Amino acid sequence: MNDNKVSDKISVNNSGWVSLRQFDDGNDGTLCILEAQRDIPFEVKRVYYITNLQNARSCRGKHAHKTLRQAIFCISGSFVLGLDDGYNRQDVRMWRNNQGVLLEPMLWHTMSDFSSGCVLMVVANEYYDAIDYIRNYEEFRQYARKL
Ligand code: TYD
Repeated sequence: MNDNKVSDKISVNNSGWVSLRQFDDGNDGTLCILEAQRDIPFEVKRVYYITNLQNARSCRGKHAHKTLRQAIFCISGSFVLGLDDGYNRQDVRMWRNNQGVLLEPMLWHTMSDFSSGCVLMVVANEYYDAIDYIRNYEEFRQYARKL
């Protein structure tokens, strides 16, 4: 996590909240629904999820994508999502399991400060492609500022 204040309003470019419909069935749990092109603005070709994040010092992400569109959800526990569009940075605390964040192209993102038992789910509009990643921050920043 960087030094920025954790906030609820997303002000960086290439991002934004998405809300999923949720049915609370009391003792029988809570049902959340994600429909492609309805709850998120793209088709879904890939879903991946991340578990075993008990280590509060773990850090994931630290990259941006050239073209990939994704939405990230914290379906259990909490973590801090760091967002950086090349000009502005902010940290968002993820803890509501029906509130996701869009990770549109050219958005540097990091995931850290995981609670015990945290589970992340990401939906993406394309299959995995290593070529689509920008893993060097300076390269990302220069590229983002040229667009
Ligand atoms: P990576 O995207 O770097 O993880 P994170 O950003 O969450 O820290 O992926 C880690 C490894 O998993 C990397 O070797 C590529 C592989 N991978 C796939 O094969 N398919 C996928 O859909 C994803 C997301 C990763």
